Amino acid sequence: MDFAHVVADPLKHACPVLVLGCYADDFRGRFLAELDESLRGCISSAYAQKEFVGELNKTLLLNSCCLIPAERLLLVGLGKRDELTPDRFRQAAGSAATALRKSGIRELSSLLHLADEGGAETLKATVEGFALGSYAFDQYKTSPEPGPVIERATLLFTEADVRDSDIGRLLEETTAICAAVCFARDLVFQPGNIVTPSYLADKGREIAAGCGIACQVMEREEMEQNGMHALLAVAKGSHEPPKFIILEYRGGGENGATTVLVGKGVTFDSGGISLKPREGMEKMKDDMGGAAAVMGTLMAVSALKLPLNVVGLIPAVENMPGGRAYKPGDIVRSMSGQTIEIVNTDAEGRMILCDALHFAQRYKPRVLLDIATLTGACVVALGSFATGLMGNDEGVKSALKQAGEACGERVWELPLWDEYGELMESDIADMKNAGGAAAGSISAGWFLHRFVGKTPWAHLDIAGTAWEDKGRPYRPKGATGVGVRLLVEYLRGVK
Ligand code: BES
Ligand code: MN
Ligand code: ZN
Repeated sequence: MDFAHVVADPLKHACPVLVLGCYADDFRGRFLAELDESLRGCISSAYAQKEFVGELNKTLLLNSCCLIPAERLLLVGLGKRDELTPDRFRQAAGSAATALRKSGIRELSSLLHLADEGGAETLKATVEGFALGSYAFDQYKTSPEPGPVIERATLLFTEADVRDSDIGRLLEETTAICAAVCFARDLVFQPGNIVTPSYLADKGREIAAGCGIACQVMEREEMEQNGMHALLAVAKGSHEPPKFIILEYRGGGENGATTVLVGKGVTFDSGGISLKPREGMEKMKDDMGGAAAVMGTLMAVSALKLPLNVVGLIPAVENMPGGRAYKPGDIVRSMSGQTIEIVNTDAEGRMILCDALHFAQRYKPRVLLDIATLTGACVVALGSFATGLMGNDEGVKSALKQAGEACGERVWELPLWDEYGELMESDIADMKNAGGAAAGSISAGWFLHRFVGKTPWAHLDIAGTAWEDKGRPYRPKGATGVGVRLLVEYLRGVK
């Protein structure tokens, strides 16, 4: 979707549709009275007849019957005025985009971003809502449905709105971030027969070439030399060779501190020998959602030219049963030297992450973050409404919580008290790879924490947030691209 901005009088602006934000309890919104009058009271009569009362995410498409140059008016509800948040603008814009797509409209003009005095923050949220809400993955539909994409959004402003503000730059940055989210969504939507570890490695090289960042791909042999036997154990059951993808963005100079992002890249998780139940197994193509988020974040970070050094590490494997597959009872030595007794081959994410987290310490990171579709238990705990957060550093955790609130990708912390370590004790190795049913997300987090040393670290469990089952205003059904906006927001706050 392309964005443009113009200074124009809404009553004189010709366009296929004008999107107007409306409140549930206040009929005095900006432009409302003028538009209502020009349209001979058709907005107030919609309110009076309770056809549309400004309820959040509700929309009403009206034909302007040539009373104004705009052919149509789309009213979109923002809910009660005193309950307004930036995320409500994101949602309302997403709902508007969905409604317009269904009506076959390809181009919109917006007044929605002017519905409050939020300025840049409101504008950013609205643009995100339009761009993310109109996303669709229809590459495999021979005849695309359910209709056209919205190609262009024109944002209207008054002279006073544009004074002292750099709208062009804000639009450029926001659309770059949304493009990175959509890149991540595309990658997660792609099926496992397309997205293999080799495909991820090719994507890494491709984005690196396009964004001016460095990309290196480690092959099995080099991983063996490094002693990454936890990662390699998972790869053994598959015919697809494992890849370890390294992306390096150096915007912070030679001596600047580095933030390392590790993303779980299991391109399909069958569970391995501890095979998953058949019901819903197809969804396990999304088990590289962390990898997609890291790639998208690096794309965005380089587009924004952030003055930081950011390294992305992606251990990529396919988890399959097979004659050579790793088995329950096996013991492997991780790169850190710690030994792991395998009790469940379906706990493969932590196996690949632990070697990546150990490897990450080469960069002497100021902060180490990992993002992974790690545990079903996280879906049980938080549903699709929040990403699980664990870590060893209060500053990093609170910065992530703040970033989550600001961008609408919420995170919620789970504890990592020492006692949880008991769940992972093994009789014959340094630890098991899985605990029991109790505290499944935390025991996974606890396992990871044994591989980060003293590095300030946080773990993001996106098992519940990487895929949206129902479809929400700016998160259409399917891959959400979660993590990109969260990590970019976090990194923008790093001083
Ligand atoms: N990729 C799964 C986690 C997952 C489950 C993501 C559901 C999204 C939705 C992970 O590899 C896994 O299988 N975890 C196991 C761990 C258990 C064996 C300790 C789980 O959560 O059941
Ligand atoms: Mn698994
Ligand atoms: Zn998995």
